[in-house]
Amino acid sequence: MKYGAFAMASAIAIVAANGALAESHVTPEAEVLHYWTSGGEAKSVAVLQEEFAANGGTWTDMPVAGGGGDAAGTALRARVLSGNAPTAAQIKGPSIQEWYQEGVLADISDVAEANNWGELLPASIASHMKCDGTWCAVPVNVHRVDWIWANTEILAANNIEMPTTWDEFNAAAETLQAAGIIPLAHGGQAWQDATVFETVVLGLGGPDFYQKALVDLDPEALGSDTMVAVFDQMRTLRGYVDDNFSGRDWNLATAMVMNGEAAFQIMGDWAKGEFLAAGQEPGVDFTCASTPGEGFLYNVDSFAMFEVGGEAKEAGQELLAELVMGPTFQEVFNMNKGSIPARTDVALDGFDSCAQTSSADMAASSDGGSLLPSYAHGMALFGAQAGAITDVVTAHFNSDMSSEDAVQMLTDAVANSM
Ligand code: BGC
Repeated sequence: MKYGAFAMASAIAIVAANGALAESHVTPEAEVLHYWTSGGEAKSVAVLQEEFAANGGTWTDMPVAGGGGDAAGTALRARVLSGNAPTAAQIKGPSIQEWYQEGVLADISDVAEANNWGELLPASIASHMKCDGTWCAVPVNVHRVDWIWANTEILAANNIEMPTTWDEFNAAAETLQAAGIIPLAHGGQAWQDATVFETVVLGLGGPDFYQKALVDLDPEALGSDTMVAVFDQMRTLRGYVDDNFSGRDWNLATAMVMNGEAAFQIMGDWAKGEFLAAGQEPGVDFTCASTPGEGFLYNVDSFAMFEVGGEAKEAGQELLAELVMGPTFQEVFNMNKGSIPARTDVALDGFDSCAQTSSADMAASSDGGSLLPSYAHGMALFGAQAGAITDVVTAHFNSDMSSEDAVQMLTDAVANSM
């Protein structure tokens, strides 16, 4: 179906249902709760808003500022508890299943089946979108978390190559620090600490260790010497961050790399959306490389629809689900957002070199068994367990706690959260 073919002014919406085009004399409505509020994010979500409007829909925006989605999660809970759920909300990973178990999600299997989602999505992504065999969410993209972003000019001026081991990273940071440059741009929010932490777990421990520690929550892995070494590296990294990082948003940290105030940022590829929105080019103004070590940490954004009464809202949910999985949206949105499409049949020709690397590495990691869910971005664990880990990571990063004490606290916190 060609979405653009429908006139925006049309009050008659046509939506797909049960494989057939059904005509309905309602204007599809959607109130959409999301947390895409930075420059690159806002540009990306505008693609969806425009497509929704072009198909006769009325979009009510409910953006909740705060990277990583913690504030959005709180806002969503308040809305659902007060019996006023939004039509759709940006949620992902195991929390989709948590909401499903509360009995508040709408079943979007009709749209999914009519549009062959089962064949268009990799099994690993499809499994996150299904609840008890029905489709309960629609995937937007695949973000990779384990990336380092660098200011190309600063690296060249200081004869630094992109680091391929954590020792090389530390050596580069020492050189930069001696030259009076902030080595690592970082913000002061717990989820940003968790983002860096999980890349260090993957890099120093390897994919099997990551799986045991942050997916299986194996007490032996959590309490191991490897985990002590991970916290040692976190302490080292803390020394490369400037003093004003408290409370800083992730996109302001990206801006520091962009403006030449800092050399590196460790952040998922939504950071690339910021560079691109500012007109910067990969390989020219900024450089991307995966963080040291093997593997790929994936983070899939998705929307779930909430049980809301009324024909117009139901039509809005169907239209939204269909558009999000549409090939045009998956291409245009992800080019802006920094991610790659969730659908496997969208050509990446027009995508930049970082996206090409992401796609190739994802395929190789999937074959090699090192494609792993990001714990820091809600793909691996239920909220309580992820929160227990993040509390320890951030308490350690923001104090002079020893690595041994952090490891002890980590094993206790995880045990108490089960
Ligand atoms: C989301 C991204 C978002 C980032 C910063 C991540 O958890 O998956 O879509 O851009 O947080 O808010």
